[in-house]
Amino acid sequence: MNQDISALRRDYQFQDLLESEIPQDPFTLFDHWLEQAIESCPYDPTAMTLSTVDPQHAPHSRIVLLKQRQESGFVFFTNYDSDKGKEIATNNKACLNFFWPELSRQVRIEGTLHKVERTASETYFASRPKDSQIAATASPQSKTIDRETLHSQMASLTQTLAEQDVPCPKNWGGYELKANYLEFWQGRPSRLHDRLCFQLQADTNWHLFRRAP
Ligand SMILES: Cc1cc2nc3c(=O)[nH]c(=O)nc-3n(C[C@H](O)[C@H](O)[C@H](O)COP(=O)(O)O)c2cc1C
Repeated sequence: MNQDISALRRDYQFQDLLESEIPQDPFTLFDHWLEQAIESCPYDPTAMTLSTVDPQHAPHSRIVLLKQRQESGFVFFTNYDSDKGKEIATNNKACLNFFWPELSRQVRIEGTLHKVERTASETYFASRPKDSQIAATASPQSKTIDRETLHSQMASLTQTLAEQDVPCPKNWGGYELKANYLEFWQGRPSRLHDRLCFQLQADTNWHLFRRAP
């Protein structure tokens, strides 16, 4: 690395994030921020970092795409036999993180993951382009594999399924994160960022508080 990355910095500025001006329901605020991100961020505004932990309590993070937002839930789709799927099976606590640089915004969401209804996975799978359906079927996600094997599995399945609908694989489907903590971070000049947090209390009430940036 020839560049001095410690010198890379910018002043964050978009707008204030004030208790008096936000909805008291974190999901209304999240949906509003997501709509603004979709308008302002040209690449993958629905991309989120998903963090899970393995049985040794080691954390693992990767990007997945938010595909549905419903009531208190955040839904993504994946391979249930992947590393993340195995981690979730032994510990369903997880964290999602969105970063929207064009808006100087970050959202952290913590909660528990649950598989969505099978019919919901099948419905979403059916809406995907055929190539993506075949790739999801051909790829043993997270397993060690050589490139030739993966490509020949894809080619062979493409031929087999040429004239028919691709069934949703049994090991593929959605997870919904049920949130119990959401944190909205708005970058502000001179590092005096706004950081508003919602903690679920007694399974019903959202407690709103501010944290130091
Ligand atoms: C922009 C982007 C979007 C992605 N979306 C998904 C997704 O929706 N579902 C998924 O399983 N993997 C997605 N991936 C791949 C994951 O980051 C990861 O490599 C994969 O799920 C395997 O993770 P695991 O081995 O920890 O289970 C995406 C990667 C990127 C960079």
